[in-house]
Amino acid sequence: MKAVLLEGFGGAEVLKVGEVDKPTPKENEVLVKVMATSINRPDLVQREGKYPPPPGDSEILGLEVSGIIEALGPNVAGWKVGDRVMSLVGGGGYAEYAVAYANHLMPIPESMTFEEAACVCESYITAFLNIFMLGEFKDGQTAILHGGGGGVNTAGIQLCRALAPTSRLIVTASPEKMERVKAVGADLLINFRETPDFSEIVKEYTSKKGVDLVLDHIGAKYLAPNMNSLAYKGKLVIIGVTSGIKAELNLALMMVKRQQIIGSVLRSRPVSEKGEIVAEFTRRALPKFADRTIIPIIEKVFTIDQVADAHLMMEEDKHFGKIVLKIGA
Ligand SMILES: NC(=O)c1ccc[n+]([C@@H]2O[C@H](COP(=O)([O-])OP(=O)(O)OC[C@H]3O[C@@H](n4cnc5c(N)ncnc54)[C@H](OP(=O)(O)O)[C@@H]3O)[C@@H](O)[C@H]2O)c1
Repeated sequence: MKAVLLEGFGGAEVLKVGEVDKPTPKENEVLVKVMATSINRPDLVQREGKYPPPPGDSEILGLEVSGIIEALGPNVAGWKVGDRVMSLVGGGGYAEYAVAYANHLMPIPESMTFEEAACVCESYITAFLNIFMLGEFKDGQTAILHGGGGGVNTAGIQLCRALAPTSRLIVTASPEKMERVKAVGADLLINFRETPDFSEIVKEYTSKKGVDLVLDHIGAKYLAPNMNSLAYKGKLVIIGVTSGIKAELNLALMMVKRQQIIGSVLRSRPVSEKGEIVAEFTRRALPKFADRTIIPIIEKVFTIDQVADAHLMMEEDKHFGKIVLKIGA
């Protein structure tokens, strides 16, 4: 089968399309004929050699797929060959065929295209898990979502608008993307280039109360302003550390304000835990895709042969929402 391979680790030039053996589904797995996948920031880090796949997962890039079930491994119930599905995969999405655990599959609603479905599993499930399951975010509450132009947080804004319609969203973004972020559903926009310490603006906006939740992938540089923006019993969920991994924390303030800092990853969770998250997402969020309340925002669809251009677009932060790689015809 055709797949995107790495000729060593490095820049987008190491991505080469080549031929490898089709994978075989093992117990509780299915083989998916991949129609599309999407580019996620961690793919770039894996390409650079700094984010190896979990043991046992494919070395091929790609954390999610949409496609058609081609074959069932032993012990799979509830799915059949020919079903239109989307799924998280531990790796292997940038290929004509990928294996997925049966309990990670979701049916693609009839109203959705394969390109749209290829955007759902990594970004939307990450946003859903951290905002609604770990962050316990509710209608009427206020959150800060950082980087509202990216895959995870365009998804985060859309999910909050659909599942917690009266919540208030403070969103950081680059000036070029602020208008589009506002259109997706942000209430207050903060230009992160001009205002690296956003906590005073947040205090003013929330009448000094602070926010109930911060979803952060910036890490060290934002720890202080994030904590200064949190309300009593507020939660800071950290899903990335792009600015660094070490920062100072005032433990006394955190204790007195009964705040929580939660670290979270999706990819390396046990198969059963990911299955539970997918089940909860299927129950609460998938109907919002089926009825078109949420339509994934796609910046551009590339073909598999244009994979290096797709990575460069993300590397240069030129995208808004998701970048799709079309694999099957
Ligand atoms: N832990 C997990 O389970 C998990 C899962 C998936 C992703 N992640 C992490 O989540 C992050 C986002 O992933 P993604 O796929 O959404 O990437 P993405 O599409 O590239 O989005 C990243 C966003 O961050 C914004 N940004 C850059 N510097 C910023 C700053 N100083 N303050 C606020 N925003 C800033 C960018 O803004 P502009 O484009 O406007 O410049 C961009 O919109 C990555 O760090 C990724 O590794 C974690």
